[in-house]
Amino acid sequence: MNIGILTSGGDCPGLNAVIRGAVRKGVRSEHMTFSGIRDGWRGLLEDDIAPLTTHDVRGISGRGGTILGTSRTHPYSQGGPEQMKRVIAARGIDAIIAIGGEGTLAGAARLVRDDGLPVVGVPKTIDNDLDNTDYTFGFDTAAEIATEAIDRLRTTAESHHRCMVVEVMGRNVGWIALHSGMAGGAHAILIPEFPVDYEQIYAWVRSAHDRGRAPLVVVSEGFMPAGADEQVADKGRDRDGRIRLGGIGNHLAPMIEDATGIETRSTLLGHLQRGGQPTAYDRVLATRLGMAAVDLAANGSWGQMASLSGTDIVSVSMESAVDKLKLVPQQRWDEVQVLLG
Ligand code: F6P
Repeated sequence: MNIGILTSGGDCPGLNAVIRGAVRKGVRSEHMTFSGIRDGWRGLLEDDIAPLTTHDVRGISGRGGTILGTSRTHPYSQGGPEQMKRVIAARGIDAIIAIGGEGTLAGAARLVRDDGLPVVGVPKTIDNDLDNTDYTFGFDTAAEIATEAIDRLRTTAESHHRCMVVEVMGRNVGWIALHSGMAGGAHAILIPEFPVDYEQIYAWVRSAHDRGRAPLVVVSEGFMPAGADEQVADKGRDRDGRIRLGGIGNHLAPMIEDATGIETRSTLLGHLQRGGQPTAYDRVLATRLGMAAVDLAANGSWGQMASLSGTDIVSVSMESAVDKLKLVPQQRWDEVQVLLG
């Protein structure tokens, strides 16, 4: 059996560990061969594919990024499934392991359902917003990087008696902000799922300051304060209908400074959260998912993906993972309240 592997969408620490886990398992115990598809669906559409051997995956599980490259090319562009079928037949590929986030898995599920392509999936996103899997690899690394940043910002903030605003990734969900904010002892955690208003943010900042602390505010990139429409009505909206702020952290810092009189700085962590070495947890999870994806391919379980349930790796349908986003639930929001302010 010849398996094509591709990584698609935004990169994520742990992708190389998935690739290594899959190739090692497939070659050693199933006598499979592998083909590396370059830059996600683009490589499959443009026949940019090369053999992937155990030699190629040696020592890569601790390396960030993806040795295969990635892109956001849509699977239904450039000739779509018909073109893919031609390439797959010419290359003698029997199965494809697609490693990706919501968009990739939704596309992969459709390729199986509507076009009969032999695809299985591995879920990936630092945002941790995929449903039907407990955690996605990359999230632990991103939360660790954000926590380290908060720890570092605390010492400079305390020295200058300043408030610090840290903007972390999370376009639609607040998992990175919640976990790094809890771990780093933030005084305000601002996430898209629970849009508190400006007054609440100022109250948390004042409360920390009044106790002699340097207030630390962690905000998800997708957060929008309740009542923002009236405050920033002239900024225009993006394609999702959200107000364009040019970075929520940069928007909040001067608002906090003006309202509280506390000197405030903002830091945007951005793609630092996606770069560099994955944590041990992410390496292990990613490796196990890669190995499980090989089993799914060997069994012809098209449309299924490897998923984490508790400490077990199980099989679920790709469609079930992308039906809806995994939001921070009310209970997790409630439990963090006693730590804020
Ligand atoms: O989905 C993961 C993510 O890191 C989001 O948190 C962020 O909004 C987005 O990707 C950034 O994408 P890009 O790398 O294309 O700028």
